[in-house]
Amino acid sequence: MNNPPSRREERKLEHIKYSLEMMDGPVTSGFEDVELVHQALPELDLEGVEIGAQFLGKELRLPLVINALTGGTEKTTEINRSLARVARETGVGMAVGSQAAALENRGVEESFRVAREENPHGLLLANVGASTPWQSASRAVEMIEADGLQLHLNVPQELAMAEGDRSFRSILANIATIVQRVPVPVVVKEVGFGISREAIIGLFAAGVRYVDVGGQGGTNFVAIERARWPEEPGGPPSHWGIPTAVSLLEAAGTGLPLQLIASGGIRSPLDTAKAIALGAHLVGVAGPMLRVLITQSETVLTELIKRWQSELQTIMLMAGAGRVVDLARLPVVITGKTREWLSQRGIDTAKYARR
Ligand SMILES: Cc1cc2nc3c(=O)[nH]c(=O)nc-3n(C[C@H](O)[C@H](O)[C@H](O)COP(=O)(O)O)c2cc1C
Repeated sequence: MNNPPSRREERKLEHIKYSLEMMDGPVTSGFEDVELVHQALPELDLEGVEIGAQFLGKELRLPLVINALTGGTEKTTEINRSLARVARETGVGMAVGSQAAALENRGVEESFRVAREENPHGLLLANVGASTPWQSASRAVEMIEADGLQLHLNVPQELAMAEGDRSFRSILANIATIVQRVPVPVVVKEVGFGISREAIIGLFAAGVRYVDVGGQGGTNFVAIERARWPEEPGGPPSHWGIPTAVSLLEAAGTGLPLQLIASGGIRSPLDTAKAIALGAHLVGVAGPMLRVLITQSETVLTELIKRWQSELQTIMLMAGAGRVVDLARLPVVITGKTREWLSQRGIDTAKYARR
């Protein structure tokens, strides 16, 4: 017999429900301020444009990860199963949603394990909050035989939730312990509010070498929590945060040897090419993957990612990049609010246009 859903399970299902109902934003990702330069003489053949990438020792057919979405309830098992099959069919990476529920209740481990069962050789990332004790973080990795571990940062979301955390001390020290003790690479990720240069420098000092900047422009968890708690006073404004393109440039501008993932409002192959040209190694996409899977089907989602692959090839050809790594050497023009923000923060944007 099915048990009634716990509060955490209800929350997971409400996040899905509201994320399907809500639009991206209100703030944009900043990629509208970023332009690649058309090359009329690319000297490339479309067939020869290589869009494969590597991450954590795994080969990807497209530099893209289906970012952390869900798990922890019976109903979400089928979602993770489908997402894993899509990742396998298209050769992209996948992160499971927060495994906190399975660390408390072994009964829901299967909702995460299915991701590895469906895709035994693919790139799979575990996911827990950054204040999780290292022993539990290790268990999350073992649970799905993960290639890496995402640690999520989500202060505005917690503050927007009536049942959320209110204390955010010692998280960096905990991250440093996890990096030392957990036997796989650690990716620190925001969930849509971005990561500043100051936080990047702190994370690097704590031993972190992989960061998903998870900026504004896409799924907005303050707006989602507001919809869940319409009567709740206070909480952060729904436009709080750092747009993804800005956050990516704040991180890249440190010059630190980090592998960066751009996520938060990445909505197209063109956003993907722009993010990689600005220093991302991969992109992550979450909300739209879930929306297409639930409102359409696994087949439509597979087709969407296949189309993403061929459109990225086309864009790379027109910009003059024969391989994904070549994108990072192309000239990029940065305008508007993104340029203004970066110039006030002392980050040189003109150097991208002169490459
Ligand atoms: C329904 C839903 C559930 C999510 N759950 C998690 C989670 O458990 N852990 C996490 O790190 N991020 C979670 N995210 C955040 C995404 O991984 C991603 O950082 C965010 O949605 C921004 O990307 P997007 O604009 O492509 O959606 C969730 C997103 C959605 C839409």
